[in-house]
Amino acid sequence: MKIIEANGARIPAIGFGTYTLKGLEATDMVTNAIAAGYRHIDTARMYANEVEVGEGIRRSDVPRDDIFITTKIWRDDLAADRFADASETAIEALGIGPVDLLLIHWPNADIPLEESIEALNAAKSRGLTRHIGVANFPSALLDEAVAISEAPLVCNQVEYHPFLAQEAVLGACERHGMALVAYSPLGQGGEILKHPLVTGIAAKHGKAPSQIILNWEIAQNRVAAIPRTSDPDRLALNLDVFDFELSDEETRSLDVLSREGRRLVNPAFAPVWDRV
Ligand SMILES: NC(=O)c1ccc[n+]([C@@H]2O[C@H](COP(=O)([O-])OP(=O)(O)OC[C@H]3O[C@@H](n4cnc5c(N)ncnc54)[C@H](OP(=O)(O)O)[C@@H]3O)[C@@H](O)[C@H]2O)c1
Repeated sequence: MKIIEANGARIPAIGFGTYTLKGLEATDMVTNAIAAGYRHIDTARMYANEVEVGEGIRRSDVPRDDIFITTKIWRDDLAADRFADASETAIEALGIGPVDLLLIHWPNADIPLEESIEALNAAKSRGLTRHIGVANFPSALLDEAVAISEAPLVCNQVEYHPFLAQEAVLGACERHGMALVAYSPLGQGGEILKHPLVTGIAAKHGKAPSQIILNWEIAQNRVAAIPRTSDPDRLALNLDVFDFELSDEETRSLDVLSREGRRLVNPAFAPVWDRV
């Protein structure tokens, strides 16, 4: 498995996303993912599945320290007191000791950035997490957060796929030695998997469209991707993306496609995004 080294963290380049997985399905899929070779699991307070994800990790035969586990604190809980409570609750719910990475899930302009970044650092100082980072931070806000944070931020988790280039965020992550962790890396299983450019490249390589997309993402410096599936067969497919290389021409054509800038996750509370 390729590892992204980012400010002291070692992040497996493919992780398992767990958004929408609930109850026994979440537990079983996490256990199955680890058995299939995943060593990076992504959850969040907001997914309301930390208990089940933790259970899936505990049920696996793989030592806890061989698995990189991320959770996130929701944007309503970024003030100091609430952040402290929410991060403690997250660790209790997971039941596996400190997490590897704790993220601010979305920025919240109503709470001073200094306060939430200090609260994130406090969670690390208290031993609740080994590393800290953010999600959904546009590049200028990321620069501000990095300047404030005492401990290094190791990642910015953002939407990223061949419909959304994220050039500014990639540049900022590069400047700060951080990883870009790509969420919705399969474009939520939608149109991108049927795009003729993607299916054409897939046919040439004898691979699935999903594998072309994940390969393009993790071939970029500093990018990890966290595809989700509820289908046990697709677990292995989404991990089997390391044994081929796209040609320069294929990479360039996907780069060009990504500049269309089609964003799938854009709630009303989203920050002002970078243009590309
Ligand atoms: N930080 C944030 O704000 C944020 C936001 C969104 C997501 N995330 C994280 O990122 C993870 C992934 O993003 P996502 O869940 O939005 O979407 P995604 O991983 O891009 O797509 C998931 C969808 O793709 C389908 N799929 C999976 N593998 C496939 C394959 N090989 N071929 C065809 N279809 C496939 C799945 O259907 P089946 O289940 O039927 O396979 C599912 O409907 C989340 O689970 C979550 O952990 C974070």
